[in-house]
Amino acid sequence: MSEPVQTPQTQFKPRIFSGIQPSGGLTLGNYLGALKRFVEKQDEGIETIYCLVDLHAITVWQDPEKLRQQTREGAAAFIAAGIDPARSVLFNQSQVTAHAELAWIFNCVARMGWMGRMTQWKDKAGKNAEAASLGLFAYPALMAADILAYHATMVPVGEDQKQHLELTRDIAIKFNNDFKVDFFPVVEPLIEGAATRVMSLRDGTKKMSKSDPSDQSRINLTDTADQIASKIRKAKTDPEPLPDTVEGLKDRPDARNLVNIYAALAGHTVEQVIADFAGAQFGTFKPALADLAVAKLAPITTEMNRLMKDPAEIDRILGQGGERAEAIARPIVDQVYDIVGMIRSRR
Ligand code: TYM
Repeated sequence: MSEPVQTPQTQFKPRIFSGIQPSGGLTLGNYLGALKRFVEKQDEGIETIYCLVDLHAITVWQDPEKLRQQTREGAAAFIAAGIDPARSVLFNQSQVTAHAELAWIFNCVARMGWMGRMTQWKDKAGKNAEAASLGLFAYPALMAADILAYHATMVPVGEDQKQHLELTRDIAIKFNNDFKVDFFPVVEPLIEGAATRVMSLRDGTKKMSKSDPSDQSRINLTDTADQIASKIRKAKTDPEPLPDTVEGLKDRPDARNLVNIYAALAGHTVEQVIADFAGAQFGTFKPALADLAVAKLAPITTEMNRLMKDPAEIDRILGQGGERAEAIARPIVDQVYDIVGMIRSRR
C-alpha cells in the first residue's frame, strides 16, 4: 500500500491569531468586524491568540502616555466583549520580542514592490510618502510576523485587511521556497458575516474608522447609550422605505450599512432583517436599531469602565498573556534563525 500523500499544510494544527491596533478607541467596526468574531472563535474551542499591536500603532505618531492608556482600554474591551484570558492568549505585541525579530527577517524576504502596492500604505502615506515612516511602509511584514511567529493557520479580520493577509501568504510561500523548507503555514483569512465592512454613519461609501475626524461617523465602544441613540438617529439615509429584497439595497450604501449593522448585532442574516423590516420607514427602523445597539453595547461599555479602574490588573493579565505567547513563538523564531543561517551559540 502506498503512503498517503503529505500535503504541505497537514503538519499545522488549527490556531487563530488576530490583532487590533491601540491607535485610538475601538469602534463598532472593530467590534463587529473583529472582536465579536474573536469571541465566537474562542467559544468554538479553537486555540486563540489575540494581541494589542502596539508596535503597529507607532508607525504613525502616538503620544506615549495615551498609547499606554489606549492599549489598556483595548485590553479592557477584549475582556468586556467576552475574551477570557484563561482560554485565549491576550497580550500586547511589544512584550514578545519574537514579533520584531521575525519582522526583520520578513523585511528581507518581502519585496519593495509588494509593499508599494498595499492600498493601506497608499491611503495612509497619501501624496507625501517621502515624509511617512519607514515602519509604515514595512507594516505588512510585521503583520505577517505576528501571525507566522505562532504558526497560526486562521486569521479573523474585517475586509480591509484582506490584502495584508494575501501578502502574509506570499511571504510564507517565498520563505518556504527560498529556504526549501515547509516551515510556515499558508494562512487562511476568515472574513465572514454581515459586518466585514462597517461603513461611516455619515457616508455609506467610506469605512467606519477610529481616525475619521468626525465623531458622528462612528460609534465608539466608550459611547454612552444617549450618544449611540443620537448617532443612529442622525445617521445618513435616503428617503425610500426599506426594500423587500436584499437586492433592493444594491445602490443604497447608507441603508445597506444600517441593515448590515442590525444583522450583525442581532446575529441574524441580512435576509432575515429585510424580511422583518420590508417596507419600513427609517423612522421605524432607526429606533429599533438604536435599541438593539444599546442593548448589545451598553453591558460591554459598563464592564470596560469597571476594568479600567484597575490598570495594574490589566497590566498583569497582559504580562501573563505575553509569557504564554512567548512560550509558543520563541521556539518557532529560534528555528527561523537556524534556517536562515545565523550562529546561535549563546543558547
Ligand atoms: P485595525 O486595528 O485597523 O482593526 C482591527 C480589526 O477591526 C477590523 N475593522 C473593521 N471591520 C469591519 N468594519 C470596519 N469599519 C472595520 N474597521 C476595522 C479590521 O479589519 C481588523 O480585523 N493591521 C491590522 C492589525 C493587525 C493584525 C495583525 C490583524 C496587526 N497584526 C495580525 C490580524 C493579524 C489593523 O490595522 O487592524
